[in-house]
Amino acid sequence: MTSEDTAQKSDEASRYEDNMNNLEQENKVLRETIFQLKMEVDRYRSPALMLADVVEVFEKTAIIRVPNGNRFLVNKSSEVGEIKTGDLVTVEQKNLTIVDKIESEKSLEADKFMIIDKPKIKWSDIGGLKEQERELKEVVELPLKSPELFKKVGITPPKGILLHGPPGTGKTLLAKAVANSTKSTFVEIVGSELVQKFIGEGAKLVKEVFKMAKDNAPSIIFIDELDALAAQRVDMGTSGEREVQRTFMQLLAELDGFKPLDNVKVIGCTNRKDILDPAILRPGRLDRLIEVPIPSKEGLKEVFKIHSKNMTLDKSYNEERTYKQIESMSGAEIKSVCTEAGYNAIRAKRTKVTQKDFDKAIEKVKGKEEEENTYKGMFG
Ligand SMILES: Nc1ncnc2c1ncn2[C@@H]1O[C@H](COP(=O)(O)OP(=O)(O)O)[C@@H](O)[C@H]1O
Ligand SMILES: [Mg+2]
Repeated sequence: MTSEDTAQKSDEASRYEDNMNNLEQENKVLRETIFQLKMEVDRYRSPALMLADVVEVFEKTAIIRVPNGNRFLVNKSSEVGEIKTGDLVTVEQKNLTIVDKIESEKSLEADKFMIIDKPKIKWSDIGGLKEQERELKEVVELPLKSPELFKKVGITPPKGILLHGPPGTGKTLLAKAVANSTKSTFVEIVGSELVQKFIGEGAKLVKEVFKMAKDNAPSIIFIDELDALAAQRVDMGTSGEREVQRTFMQLLAELDGFKPLDNVKVIGCTNRKDILDPAILRPGRLDRLIEVPIPSKEGLKEVFKIHSKNMTLDKSYNEERTYKQIESMSGAEIKSVCTEAGYNAIRAKRTKVTQKDFDKAIEKVKGKEEEENTYKGMFG
């Protein structure tokens, strides 16, 4: 073979090689295209993502609640960033893996919707609830006044308390008294109002309430009618129910988001403890339950004395008889009895209140109670 021949051959070889490289390159591009197209087909095939609320977050998994109210323990996809209780997330329909977090912010003038106050109620304004007073002092007053004591002993006080019991028994009074005795800002929201009036804004409002409380610490956040917000829901058919659920999730997130020795305490209040979602009562949330019952025989005397202490009582007034008659009344009803009795005296142009005035008043207040009970029986 001549050297010319060799040169020609190697020329040809390198042409082939070039050609092959090009083809390989082309092949790669085509394969890539196929891959992309397959992905796209998959995307078209895949079902829509579902929305769910995050109930609790663990390292690799999370508990979510889907729109029908059922809860699932699911995986988090590696792409989803940090999520926390209360977040709204998208999940795959088949295995409910969390795919993404949805950010939604709305503006709202929160201060219109919460009552911020420095209450004047004193412990001595409350009758028959000594044990409840003692407990509130221990779990609210002590940590706010001497946090160093808790650090030294090495225990954490509860962050939140649930006052539960029939209406008109002094739950609001207790919360206000402890705010007063700790010189705390009293931030009040009412569950039913939050649900009825602030549709679409509930979660944001809850966030604002906690921010307000922290900015004005020491603070007590008082959530009246908590059950309107935190009732266990089975049916989540309507968007209204889902909205309540979002608000509730935000409340849980806020509760989880501050420390036991931060200068904020949350006091929830309900007369329907039976329907509460147990999530709100978990450790670290409203985990101290204080029952506020109808006054005992001794208690009602104290309550009555508080509300009648400025009244001028006639000779005919019979203490024992009155106590007997007001048995099983709530504090609010006992107060009504005193006010009504006073009005009866005024109507008769007297300044002294007689036993008759009390008898009439008690009858009236009891009548009202019965009316309410029949009403409840008919529609409840
Ligand atoms: N234990 C009590 N001692 C004195 N007054 C009471 C008591 N419980 C209720 N009252 C009276 O009834 C009113 C309503 O009580 P409140 O604390 O709002 O009841 P709740 O929050 O339990 O429904 C109070 O403002 C107070 O006048
Ligand atoms: Mg109340």
